[in-house]
Amino acid sequence: MTPAGSLLIATSLHKTYGHTPALDGADFSIHPGEVVAVMGPSGSGKSTLLHCLAGIVKPDSGSVHYNGRELTTLSDAERSGLRRGEFGFVFQFGQLVPELSCVENVALPLRLNGTKRKEAEDRASAWMERLEVADVAHKRPGEVSGGQGQRVAVARSLVTGPRVLFADEPTGALDSLNGERVMELLTEAARESRTAVVLVTHEARVAAYSDREVVVRDGKARDMAGVR
Ligand SMILES: Nc1ncnc2c1ncn2[C@@H]1O[C@H](COP(=O)(O)OP(=O)(O)OP(=O)(O)O)[C@@H](O)[C@H]1O
Ligand SMILES: [Mg+2]
Repeated sequence: MTPAGSLLIATSLHKTYGHTPALDGADFSIHPGEVVAVMGPSGSGKSTLLHCLAGIVKPDSGSVHYNGRELTTLSDAERSGLRRGEFGFVFQFGQLVPELSCVENVALPLRLNGTKRKEAEDRASAWMERLEVADVAHKRPGEVSGGQGQRVAVARSLVTGPRVLFADEPTGALDSLNGERVMELLTEAARESRTAVVLVTHEARVAAYSDREVVVRDGKARDMAGVR
């Protein structure tokens, strides 16, 4: 696959924790609007790859280009600016703020970027409607189901209009029916807004929502284009 037109390109990433090589020459690239599933056994380096791509973890060597900029050379402030402004995140357990209502959780990234409360909550409400969780807007995360909580987390990840959504096992804690609904809504919203999605998953059923699969094994990433 050619990286031309790619939004995010990682080349030859190496990352070692103590004596454990988590990444051992991993390459990766993704286009705007593309959904790429990152698969592979437990401990193979999937999360480490995602964290390097998102500028959360600095690789020991190798490069990560985002939109023409080399992430590894940016300052911490510049990288956290990118994460707030252009990247969205969803994890296995929604990681919602328990003290805030669901709509306040979804509005939070906008509030942190300086958007006024009313506008932030209006935009949050629109996203909650899309994710079919408008009815839990005023509940706390502790009062909603796992599937509802994950849809709230997806709404929160998309509310700022990110160019890349990083999702690490977003349906890992859900039953299959809820998992599939979350994936349907997530991929539909991402494709419509041309958001690239880096989707880490163990499950073939979840990967089926992607355009392309990359398999990570022993810290090396292999593109499965044409294999499926
Ligand atoms: N912060 C860390 N400190 C030490 N070792 C780590 C750290 N993060 C990851 N590792 C090690 O790096 C390797 C890759 O871990 P990683 O979390 O990327 O795997 P993974 O593919 O996401 O696994 P899983 O499917 O279980 O989430 C593993 O051997 C892991 O133990
Ligand atoms: Mg992981």
